[in-house]
Amino acid sequence: MKKKIIFSGIQPTGLLTIGNYIGALSQWKKLQKKYFCIYCIADLHSLTIYQKKNILNKNILDILAIFLACGIDPENNIIFLQSHVPQHVQLNWILNCFANFGEIKRMTQFKQKISCNTNINIGLFNYPILMAADILLYQTNKVPVGKDQIQHIELTRNLAYRFNNIYGNIFTIPEKVLNKNGSCIMSLINPNKKMSKSDPNNNSIISLFDNNFIIEQKIKNAITDSDFPPKIKYDLKNKPGISNLLSILANITECSIEQLEQNFKNKNYNNLKESIIDYLCLFLNKLRKKYFFYRKNEKYLKNIMFNGAKKAKKHADFTLKKVYDVIGLDFF
Ligand code: TYM
Repeated sequence: MKKKIIFSGIQPTGLLTIGNYIGALSQWKKLQKKYFCIYCIADLHSLTIYQKKNILNKNILDILAIFLACGIDPENNIIFLQSHVPQHVQLNWILNCFANFGEIKRMTQFKQKISCNTNINIGLFNYPILMAADILLYQTNKVPVGKDQIQHIELTRNLAYRFNNIYGNIFTIPEKVLNKNGSCIMSLINPNKKMSKSDPNNNSIISLFDNNFIIEQKIKNAITDSDFPPKIKYDLKNKPGISNLLSILANITECSIEQLEQNFKNKNYNNLKESIIDYLCLFLNKLRKKYFFYRKNEKYLKNIMFNGAKKAKKHADFTLKKVYDVIGLDFF
């Protein structure tokens, strides 16, 4: 039987956080066992913020080496760079013409971005429609993402339904896949806010490149609560700090939250933090070792992108041809 298709993407914008790993990359790795996975480095999306050429080039190779270090297999799946496959931009334009100004204006990420950005470019507005093009080009069944992307997946589904209603079954309707206990890893110093690589306060994030000393400092300073006696329990509403720490530990150790609650039944917050520090350091040291191994070999990395784009283009072209045909663009 033909494997179902998974598609997802990540922007090459500098350091990745443990949130990116837990919400996206760790799921990407698991899903490749059962599905045909297509993973994209979304360099076009990253242009919504001004990028310096050399830094962007470096970030792209860095992120590809991270994919490999996380165990994503470029042989049986497709890993590629978005800008290498022009069909993304072509479908993007067509979908623009099916998207309503009002629905895009309501996108929460757009509203957040324009509220704290001086460079309010049209790319920011268009961002979720390019994402829809990414997903729909590959007849994607499932999209593993963090919680912050749910609204964009809903938009993608709506655009696909709208198009299919007029032209017949052209696009597969994709579904989101969320990590049950890690779809939104929160800031360490404000557990009501998402952990984000663009957060100006570096203490709020664990980067995949933080060394042991920094990890220790950041986790020790992570906000918990002042409950007495201390209770290590997953309760997002009343104990957001502890719940966030439990999510991080559960995902790094692949233990269930219930198991961790049991293990830490009569323990205090310091015990929990010490355990997180130990496991995070171990996990990130291993990941970095693999990363440096792959990162050294730029020729190998470029080859993966070159071959990935070749394979991706075939799939993308198949869908785009169907779209052109039903619209009436491709009749010569
Ligand atoms: P990006 O680069 O902002 O984030 C990449 C992935 O990481 C997830 N994520 C998190 N998950 C849990 N907790 C967090 N604190 C956290 N922070 C980030 C994001 O939800 C995302 O899954 N627009 C996308 C990239 C993209 C894409 C696509 C994704 C482009 N085209 C098509 C899916 C399908 C983005 O900016 O992700």
